[in-house]
Amino acid sequence: MPHLQRNGAAIQMMVNGRPYLILAGELHNSSASSVAYMRPIWPRLEALHLNTVIAPVYWDLIEPQEGHFDFSRVDAHLRAARAHHLHLILLWFASYKNTSSDYVPIWVKRDKRRFFWAAQKASPTPAHPRGLYALSAFCRACRDADANAFRMLMHHLRKNDPQHTVIMIQVENEMGILGAGREYSAAANAAWNGPVPAALMKYLQLHRDHLRPALTAVWARNGYRTTGTWAQVFGPDVYGQEVFSAWYFARYVSAVVAAGKQELALPMYVNAWIVQNSHQRPGDYPSGGPVARMMDVWRAGAPSIDLFAPDVYINNVDGTFRKYAVSGNPLFFPESRPIPGNYIWAIGHYNAIGVSAFGIDDLHVDNPLGKIYQQLSRAASLITHAQSAGTIAAIEPRGSGTTQVRLGGFDIHVTYAAVHASNLLPAQGKHAAGTAPDVVLRQKALRGGATGYALLINSHPNEFYIMGKNLKLSFDRPPGQPDDYVMYDLEEGTFKDGKWVPGRHLDGDEGPRLRRLALPSGFIVWRVRLYRQIGPGSLG
Ligand code: DGJ
Repeated sequence: MPHLQRNGAAIQMMVNGRPYLILAGELHNSSASSVAYMRPIWPRLEALHLNTVIAPVYWDLIEPQEGHFDFSRVDAHLRAARAHHLHLILLWFASYKNTSSDYVPIWVKRDKRRFFWAAQKASPTPAHPRGLYALSAFCRACRDADANAFRMLMHHLRKNDPQHTVIMIQVENEMGILGAGREYSAAANAAWNGPVPAALMKYLQLHRDHLRPALTAVWARNGYRTTGTWAQVFGPDVYGQEVFSAWYFARYVSAVVAAGKQELALPMYVNAWIVQNSHQRPGDYPSGGPVARMMDVWRAGAPSIDLFAPDVYINNVDGTFRKYAVSGNPLFFPESRPIPGNYIWAIGHYNAIGVSAFGIDDLHVDNPLGKIYQQLSRAASLITHAQSAGTIAAIEPRGSGTTQVRLGGFDIHVTYAAVHASNLLPAQGKHAAGTAPDVVLRQKALRGGATGYALLINSHPNEFYIMGKNLKLSFDRPPGQPDDYVMYDLEEGTFKDGKWVPGRHLDGDEGPRLRRLALPSGFIVWRVRLYRQIGPGSLG
């Protein structure tokens, strides 16, 4: 059974008993609704060297009539994924999809007496003209109907996917309330005026010293009260309301997750529409969703959720990665722009269990991401081993400047530089080497072709694997120690079945200079060794 497990320094995804690095892409929302539409896409995804496809399952399409289930699309996708050597992560598009309830079946939408909806305090605003179009998280009948359908899906997988083509499930999609801190149905109002549940208070008191700072700040405003109404404990404004909304969304999803896990206990996560900038208040982004600042409330309300995942479209990916790779939450982002340097950074610096680009069905087979996924997947066992052993590091993607990282007894000084791509094959496709942006297609390039980044693995004493581009690296000894190491034996190559397969031995024009290396503008996979020079004299 796929599961998450701590291995040394990292929490890892285990598939078939081995650590598994998720190299994924998420389909556009409607693609998986048609088996025929998907037919030409599967081979492209395999050619892009994904190992995992993230695909929606739609509640309205699997349960068009109450109690009548149609899993034909799921079955077709299972078959196709297997035929193309891919795993699946399924998205349960049900009560909540980007804060709304578009994907609930028509028999739920029609019956507003049985399935009541979230209410707004006032009329729709110009900023949110649609108002709220979402089931109420206080509606038990909604929750139970969703949980029942989800249980049926997981039951179906238990019976029809014994080989675990499906390795993980995302439950719902980007929950929360837009345009307000909370909703105002009668049930929501009653809960708001009632006491904060003891279970939440107990959790917060138990973990008081380790809570996200933003939550601590909200709780501190009224002096860390441990009893009272929501407004008394957390304050009446949108910040207090956000805690309230997070708790009740977590409780709702917790019931859905529990029903599914009874059938098949795959890892399950929720994804967040994250805070886009520091000026946003709850409601500007979905209030109550699993944003980093609410992670503790979600943990308390839904302990069976295995991980919290950000959807990262903003430029400051590092800030988001940092906020999610905390307190035992393994980093995984199901949606992002296909920017390889960011993925390398997540894997090498934050021990990410996986990475994923949104709208993967748009990507050309010759997109640079394909080549990088290919190299990462070949090196996956080395990478996951290095994550658990703490022998991995990364150079953050940037276009200029310097940085430094310590690994394997060396201070590796980095200069971001577009290096002359001599003796390299030109990049495939219409972009020439050196000018090829990391990202083409629909989404704007974050930076140009001069962006440098690298993954570094210290495989043995004085031996490093390097995957990256556009950098100058100097392997120096830490201050106070003689700089008496010199590089030798620089090889380009790749991995096969976890073993290094060398290509050219690089020397002369392409070789190292004492302790220095220049990574060219095309992505490379290199192995380098250093030896210690015996005798007097500094290498400078
Ligand atoms: C975020 C959502 O979670 C996805 O399902 C999709 O709608 C994207 N936004 C669109 O960019």
